[in-house]
Amino acid sequence: MIMNIEELSEFARKKGFFWTSSEIYGGFTGFYDYGVNGTLLKRKFEHIWRKYFLNLNDNFYEIEPSDIMPEKVFIASGHITNFVDPVAKCRKCGTQHRADHILEDFLKRNFEGITAEELTKLIKDNRIVCPKCKGELADVKPLVMMFPLAVGAEGDIKAYLRPETAQGAYVNFLRHFNILRSKLPLGLAVIGKAYRNEISPRNLTTRMREFTQAELQIFFDPNKLDEHERWNEVKNYKVILYPVSQRGKKTITLSCEEVVKKLKLPKFYVWHLAKVQQFYLEILKIPETKFRFKELSEDERAFYNKIHWDIELELESLGGFKEVGGVHYRGDYDLSGHEKISKESHKIFFDNKKFIAHVLELSFGVDRNIYALIELFYRKEKDRAVLGLPANLAPFQLAVFPLVNKGNLDKLAKDVYETLKKDFDAVYDDSGSIGKRYYREDERGTFFAITVDYDTLKTDDVTVRFRDTTKQIRVKIKELNKTLMQLVSSN
Ligand code: GAP
Repeated sequence: MIMNIEELSEFARKKGFFWTSSEIYGGFTGFYDYGVNGTLLKRKFEHIWRKYFLNLNDNFYEIEPSDIMPEKVFIASGHITNFVDPVAKCRKCGTQHRADHILEDFLKRNFEGITAEELTKLIKDNRIVCPKCKGELADVKPLVMMFPLAVGAEGDIKAYLRPETAQGAYVNFLRHFNILRSKLPLGLAVIGKAYRNEISPRNLTTRMREFTQAELQIFFDPNKLDEHERWNEVKNYKVILYPVSQRGKKTITLSCEEVVKKLKLPKFYVWHLAKVQQFYLEILKIPETKFRFKELSEDERAFYNKIHWDIELELESLGGFKEVGGVHYRGDYDLSGHEKISKESHKIFFDNKKFIAHVLELSFGVDRNIYALIELFYRKEKDRAVLGLPANLAPFQLAVFPLVNKGNLDKLAKDVYETLKKDFDAVYDDSGSIGKRYYREDERGTFFAITVDYDTLKTDDVTVRFRDTTKQIRVKIKELNKTLMQLVSSN
């Protein structure tokens, strides 16, 4: 059974994943707090992401730039001018609405990338009124989506909370190019918060005002756009695509070699598309049918992109395929912008040439991915609910239970737990019937349940129950650690 958004919200709240921030004060729209299970799941996603993407090249590293950056950064990046949302204000109640969103709700189409004038006309033509009070809507106006800050005692230093982690990597490129022995490609990854003053935050953690991004900026030589040294690894690998030409039709599947020939995409770009897809299908174990890359047309692309395909997952609670990330070829847009405004040359000397490096960005919204993982892995069975996450993503890998709290079983179970928790994310539970304890752990995804029972006292073994099949095996206590390690790594 698939959860709808209300059920997912209820599940996330009641089972310790996430809920609206500052809840005891009535909640703070657009901001979410992660609870114990949500935090563990999020950290694991970030850890897996880090391991996978930094491993793509020996010259890829993680950095931690500041969340707050001076205004000049965003003049250079184009955000001050271009990072705007179309807003329609209600003349009666004063509420500001995202014009493209109210049109989307009304006409069930996507209106991103359409000009303010066109949106105003569409609102008028379709007689759309304020969804809150039915008042008349004023003309659509662009509104800068960044949070401004007044820094310093006098508040006279203009700054912004970063709207994307990417700029932190760009302003640090030159220094890292020098520190890291002047090699390309060079990858700088940032996992951290981004902030956007969304006009209408909605759909739980998929459109928030403060969210986490995991982004990898790959700086490379533009003369090598049509090659990749490990091209052979992916050339026959098939990627799932939804190009502009297929809108309203089905996805297509092409080998990377075919993508280059038929869709005229550069090899450097396509190599990374393949790696992103492998991350979703092979590491996160997302079913193939739920995944696709969607091409954005010139009108829809972010202002800095030359090539832009979104990473989409099919989320029935949100009505279909939704963007969870993107593969962006940003060219020299950002580094040239920073060269102009900082007045520091961003040209590098590499391979006997002087040039500005180009950027390929792999961008992921961590919270949207967490939301998707919960929806895609949650299932209801006859007498239980299971969050069937892969073992390395489950908040807890195992739970240890004494069958009863007497006859020395509890002491022995505690000893087993103390040993296992050194190597696994483990939890101990001795309250309620065994059936109820299984149910609780299945629902938050705990991969194994280990029960210490009366036989343990005689035979020194415990029951290991598998979350997905409910199958049980007996394992000697002294072999428990090794056996569970093997099982976790093979799942
Ligand atoms: N650096 C490129 C960039 O920021 P983006 O498409 O604006 O590109 C990247 O954002 C990802 O960040 C999105 O694919 C989405 O997963 C996530 N994201 C963007 N806005 C968000 C929001 N308001 N709430 C939650 N996630 C968001």
